[in-house]
Order: sequence, then structure tokens, then C-alpha cells
Amino acid sequence: SKTYRIAAIPGDGIGPEVLEIGMEVLTAAVNTLSAGRLQFDLFPWGSEYYLQHGRMMPENALEILKAYDAIYLGAIGDPRVPDHLSLEMLLDLRKGFDQYVNLRPVKLLPGVESPVRLKPGETVDFVVVRENTEGEYSRLGGRFKVGTADEVAVQTSIFTRKGTERVMRYAFDLARRRAEERAREGVEVKEGGGTAGGPRPMVTNCTKSNALNYSMVFWDEVYAAVAAEYPDVHRDQALVDALAMWLVRRPAYYDVIVSSNLFGDILTDLAAAIQGGMGIAAGGNINPERTYPSMFEPIHGSAPRYKGQNRANPIAAIWAGSMMLEHLGETAAARLVMKAVEDVLAEGRYRTSDLGGTSSTTEVGEAIKKTIRKKGDALIR
Ligand code: IPM
Ligand code: MN
Repeated sequence: SKTYRIAAIPGDGIGPEVLEIGMEVLTAAVNTLSAGRLQFDLFPWGSEYYLQHGRMMPENALEILKAYDAIYLGAIGDPRVPDHLSLEMLLDLRKGFDQYVNLRPVKLLPGVESPVRLKPGETVDFVVVRENTEGEYSRLGGRFKVGTADEVAVQTSIFTRKGTERVMRYAFDLARRRAEERAREGVEVKEGGGTAGGPRPMVTNCTKSNALNYSMVFWDEVYAAVAAEYPDVHRDQALVDALAMWLVRRPAYYDVIVSSNLFGDILTDLAAAIQGGMGIAAGGNINPERTYPSMFEPIHGSAPRYKGQNRANPIAAIWAGSMMLEHLGETAAARLVMKAVEDVLAEGRYRTSDLGGTSSTTEVGEAIKKTIRKKGDALIR
């Protein structure tokens, strides 16, 4: 079987604790199924490294990482290092490896309570496809007449046709794949929109073309052009402010949402709350062409206050790990991981405090590993 080489960057705060559990859980899954072998190489980069070396990662970090099949990241951020410096590391990796899709699944797992009221029979199961290399995060602009009463700060957003088109296309392809998967699994979808599920497959265009008269007008045009190539996928469009409201009012409606970098950033924190909190939400920074390694991370921060306390929820990191297995082609192992997470959540005995429980990070990890072994044995038999 294949050996996958994975660069693990535990990072700061609770990053190392949750990533450790993630690595153990993923290893348990591939071992149980006798799928590929996972080789994790650890890179102790991040804020501690910065305090010693004056940079978050070595100068040739991308060269080193390029040889790996995937990158598994804990969390970045430390009160001793200014945020805009530490977080640059994350943005450099995303951009350097052309990970132009930030994929954020938003799914209400069994047994998890959403703060949002759902109608009977409704569930939340959508994906945000966030553009991840340009837009509002292009880091172009400048400050002029600094310190004077006439000071001006300019922050430029860049939207290229190539960059916009490819992320749109990814979203439409994903909507198709999700529909095929639902059909395969016999999942019933409500047709016609309205209160429960919207028409599916569907790609919702998150825009703001009423106010952003260049970037978002262009974005809408590209959406329309790409949508025309996918007549089987329903179109849907909402201004980002309205979309924030609708995500709270009827999260069950959505299937795939495509958004610019900043809008996607904001919406996915909101979406994380809808699915039970930052302790659960996961994401992948994907380079679909596989020219470069993709990177998988919990979307929560480093929570420095909880560092070393063994109380952070490892599920976001585990879910991100499952996405990584899926990306590597180890679909059965990826599913086994999520099945085990779902079982443990549904059973309700082992939960961290963010979900109202009293279990530690490691206890939740142990429970999930145990479930994996049990389920895996049953699968194999
Ligand atoms: C995220 C984070 C990052 C972002 C920060 C840390 C730069 O909030 O992954 O969503 O804004 O993309
Ligand atoms: Mn964010």
C-alpha cells in the first residue's frame, strides 16, 4: 500500500494538542482498514520559531514542503507576536502553493445542537468555496501622509479572470459531485426551494455588486458565464449582507456557496457557529491541479488561553484530517473517521466543554480511536 508523506505543522497555542490527536486518529483509521501508510514529518514552525529566528518559518519552507503529499496544520497565533506577522505565514502558504480554493464544509453533525432553529426534518449541509489567493487578501495598497491629519490608507482588491473563473468552476463541479453522491446514497432532497432545502445541485453566488461596482460586478459576470456551462446546476445569488442573514434564518436552504476571500472568511465563522462552534469547523486549502500540496486545518485559532490544558475540542482538526485523507484518495478511511466522530458525538458521553461536556481533548480522541477500531473491524469482517 501507498505511503503518504505529510508535513505536520502543529503551530501555536492549542495547535499541537489537537494536531496530535488528529494524527493518531487518522493513523488508527488507515491502519484499521490496512489502507495507505501515513508518514508525518513534524515542522516546529510558528511563533516560538519566530521568537528564536525572527521569522515564522525558514526561508526555504516552501521548497521543503513542496515534496509532501499534503500539509496538516494545527493553528497559528501567539500574543507575543503581532497577528499580522504570524498570520502572514498562513497566507504565504496558501498563496505560495496556489491553494486557490478554501473549502469549508458546514454540516450539523448528529447530536450537535445548532443555536439556529431548524424546522423538523431540516438539516444543515452546505459547503463554502472561498477564493483563497486573491481578492481582498491581495495585500496591495499603501499608507500615505502617515501620521498626518490627511493620512490615507489604501487596500486594493485584485480579481483576475483566471482566478475568479477557476474558483467558480470548482464550485460548480463540486455541486455536481455532491448531487451524484446524494443520488448514490439515496439521500432525499427537497425540490423547489422555499423553506427546507433549496433546489439542488445549486451554487449560490455570494456577491456585493450593489456597492462594489468593479470587483463584484466582474465577479457576477464570471459567475454567470461559468454557470452557463452547467445548465444542470441551479443558480442562486445573494448579497453578502443578506446572505449572512439568510444563513441564520434558513441554513438548510444552501448547497454550495461561492465567495470571495474576505466574504468567505466572514461567512465561515458565522457558519461555524451554526454547525456547533469553532471547535468543530474544518477547512482545506486546496490546489485542485495538485501541482502543489494542499493544506488542511481546523478553522479555529490557536486559543492561547487554553494552551496545554488538554481541553480544546480536537474534532475540527480531526475533520480537517478526514478531508486530507479524502484528498489523498483514501476515501474509505476518510469516511470511517467521520463516522466515528459522528458516533461519539451522537452518543454524547465524550464531549469537550465547548459542547457542554467535561471530557478532555485526549479523552475525546481516545473515544474516537476506539470507535474507529470497532467500526473498522466490523467493516472488514
Ligand atoms: C481563517 C483565518 C485567516 C483568514 C487569518 C488567520 C489570516 O481567519 O483561516 O479563516 O482570514 O483567512
Ligand atoms: Mn477566518
